[in-house]
Amino acid sequence: MTTHRIAVIPGDGIGKEVVPEGLRVLEKAAARFGLAFEFAHFDWNCDYYARTGRMMPEDWFETLSSFEAIFYGAVGWPATVPDHVSLWGSLIQFRRRFDQYVNLRPCRLMPGIATPLANRKPGDIDFVVVRENTEGLYAGAGGNLRRGTPHEVAVQESINTRMGVERCLRYAFEYTRKRGRRKTLTLCGKTNALTYAFDLWERAFHEIGDKDYPDIKRDYAHVDATCMWMVKNPEWFDVIVTDNMFGDIITDLGAMIQGGMGIAAGGNIHPGKVSMFEPIGGSAPKYTGLGVINPMAAIASAQMMLAELGENEAADRVESAIAYVAAEKLESMNAGKMGYSTSGVGDLVADAVATKAGQK
Ligand code: IPM
Ligand code: MG
Repeated sequence: MTTHRIAVIPGDGIGKEVVPEGLRVLEKAAARFGLAFEFAHFDWNCDYYARTGRMMPEDWFETLSSFEAIFYGAVGWPATVPDHVSLWGSLIQFRRRFDQYVNLRPCRLMPGIATPLANRKPGDIDFVVVRENTEGLYAGAGGNLRRGTPHEVAVQESINTRMGVERCLRYAFEYTRKRGRRKTLTLCGKTNALTYAFDLWERAFHEIGDKDYPDIKRDYAHVDATCMWMVKNPEWFDVIVTDNMFGDIITDLGAMIQGGMGIAAGGNIHPGKVSMFEPIGGSAPKYTGLGVINPMAAIASAQMMLAELGENEAADRVESAIAYVAAEKLESMNAGKMGYSTSGVGDLVADAVATKAGQK
């Protein structure tokens, strides 16, 4: 039996409430499918920062490098640590140092879940965003001058390398092929205004597509139009590939149309290396300690981790358990309105994984 070694970083706020539910579901899946997990817990969060002046110890990278994957909650506790300090000291460090160049964020409306879009049913909203996760405006390229004076200057550059763009596009083409749904990959950009960055993206998109993916239909949409169509005609999308900043923005919109942050999951992926899986909502300080947050997003992230680890049977089982509980048990996906507490929802999904409830 292979033992999967997973680093667990619950982080702050509701991260500490939802991560245990994801772990519980993983344990049930392990028992059911003969897998083994070894979870190592790291308390690297804003409390750790208060004690040490850092979000993580100096040798964090070496420590985490020996794990197969990271299961992450959320960091951020703005009352004590500014968000840019906690995020650049944790989440963004992982993406950068482990070179997790794809942020994979599915957007799928499941049966029984309410969407704010009128007259939409499961199947109408079923696409995946492949967000470039290491470059663009998140590269950290820039600086300032005369800060705090009337003459101050701030520069934040978008970095787009041919290598970085190409590997992200190739991942997206492969994913579209493997997904096999409509075999359509949409490049979301802004070629009409951001003429250097998206010129590179657009040329690479068509060159790679012509040469290696003739079976995949290519489409293009500006980011503003993408937002419009995600609301008006979400069924047009199969897989969307985009840069870091646009991917950040459109996946919040995606989270809302698929039923809210309570179900929105993502993976920060470098195939074959240390990838990290997280619910895409934040640490939600105002909901912390109430037991009202929906852990489905964390559970769905655990499910994505199973799939990335190659445990497809277990991943499918968790996926159908989520769908069953969402459709049959929960009143809503939103915090405080599920009809169950955070751990109550975790119980339901864990039970559904262990038993045959709702399984095809
Ligand atoms: C996300 C988040 C992060 C991002 C923040 C917290 C830095 O919004 O994962 O989408 O911008 O990438
Ligand atoms: Mg975001």
